[in-house]
Amino acid sequence: MSKIKLGMIGSGFMARFHARAIKQVRNIDIAGLIRRSASEELAVYVRKNGLGDGIIYDSIAEMAQHVDALAIYTPNYARLDILEEIVNAVQAGAQIKGVICDKPLARNVAEARKMVDIAEKAGLRTAYFENQVFMKALTAQLAQLAPQQATMGPMFLVRAAEEHAGPHEPWFWDPVRQGGGVLLDMGCHSIAASWYALTPPGRPVTYLQPVSVWADCALLKWGLPRWQIRLKAERGVDYASTPAEDFVTGMVTYRNPETGQYVKGQFTSSWVYEKQGMRLSMDGIGPGYAFEMNTLNSSLEIFIGDAAAESASDAELAVEKATATRGLIPIQDNEADLYGYTDENEEAAAAFLAGRDALLPWSYGLEIMKLVMAAYMSAERKCVIDLTNIKIQQELETFIPLIQQGRGAELLSRD
Ligand SMILES: NC(=O)c1ccc[n+]([C@@H]2O[C@H](COP(=O)([O-])OP(=O)(O)OC[C@H]3O[C@@H](n4cnc5c(N)ncnc54)[C@H](O)[C@@H]3O)[C@@H](O)[C@H]2O)c1
Repeated sequence: MSKIKLGMIGSGFMARFHARAIKQVRNIDIAGLIRRSASEELAVYVRKNGLGDGIIYDSIAEMAQHVDALAIYTPNYARLDILEEIVNAVQAGAQIKGVICDKPLARNVAEARKMVDIAEKAGLRTAYFENQVFMKALTAQLAQLAPQQATMGPMFLVRAAEEHAGPHEPWFWDPVRQGGGVLLDMGCHSIAASWYALTPPGRPVTYLQPVSVWADCALLKWGLPRWQIRLKAERGVDYASTPAEDFVTGMVTYRNPETGQYVKGQFTSSWVYEKQGMRLSMDGIGPGYAFEMNTLNSSLEIFIGDAAAESASDAELAVEKATATRGLIPIQDNEADLYGYTDENEEAAAAFLAGRDALLPWSYGLEIMKLVMAAYMSAERKCVIDLTNIKIQQELETFIPLIQQGRGAELLSRD
């Protein structure tokens, strides 16, 4: 068999993006979807583009009988219930080779650990989808700079940032359902991408040992009266009573287990970024070499003047989370590839076909969750979190950030 028959659970933003990616991938057919409000539209896209049969099923139990792998593209709060349905289907005889889960693996360490344990007990192969690790800009710089890393020594500082003006669905804004604000939603990307970029080429993805984390979370824009009112009216979320952070910056320090060298990954995520659309930027520095990328830089720009702006209907055709329909606009004509979705799909399918976990299994998603929760802990306690401390490691297992508990005001109204 050279192709995986994939069943997608969730037909929203992420499922649509992955379908655009799979158009460029040769080892996946989108065989099934679960019936929800947007599934018919996605099924039409799948069939029209020859991506698979895109049959809509009423339940996971039913779809699991007709596919080889399943992908969880549903909101963070629905993860464990869906995994339970998958495991029930496997126990009822479904031949599932592997399960994909998009970031984050869950809302906290306890939930993420359950995801890992349940999948392992059921004998499922797993893929944690962290697309930024697969971005061609990142993998190309690693390949280009491999000789320099080998002769001069590894990269010692990576700064990764992902910023846009705010997410597209109400549940992302709700700190209880999502699990937090921008730190959980997007900090998980930048933490993973910087960890990967710092890792000496050829080493396992968790080779560098995280030793400490600090972070500062803030509510800079969406707590201001005008924006708070808009958020309540448009998304039904009240940041006066249950706010989440819309900005975070922080640092993870890693130790090279062979040389003892300390290296640093700085992350910044925001829902307050006001420019043409989403900006994903990263730079890295090693002894005598460096790399830098910014997804808002494109070789194609268009200009739409005021007179012509009326005819521009869909700003997001230009770039994800675009907020303007006029002026000078950079165009990214293959975002699914730019952000790494093509390569992560291809790699996961190849791994499942070979009977193994993907490069980033769910156990890796659990490690990312620990770092994200340590960042919330640092912001709450206003101190550096020592990850080598056994007591801290134990606390992280059950730690639920104030923001996730719906008590964000206690943190975000402080200085
Ligand atoms: N890698 C990235 O850059 C990236 C970007 C956006 C979202 N995501 C992740 O992808 C996941 C989905 O996000 P999204 O933006 O597509 O959200 P969305 O709200 O646009 O879509 C969610 C989909 O899940 C369906 N759904 C909800 N509950 C369900 C259930 N119990 N069973 C079956 N289907 C259910 C909804 O009907 C909808 O089709 C989230 O975990 C999010 O963090 C990742």
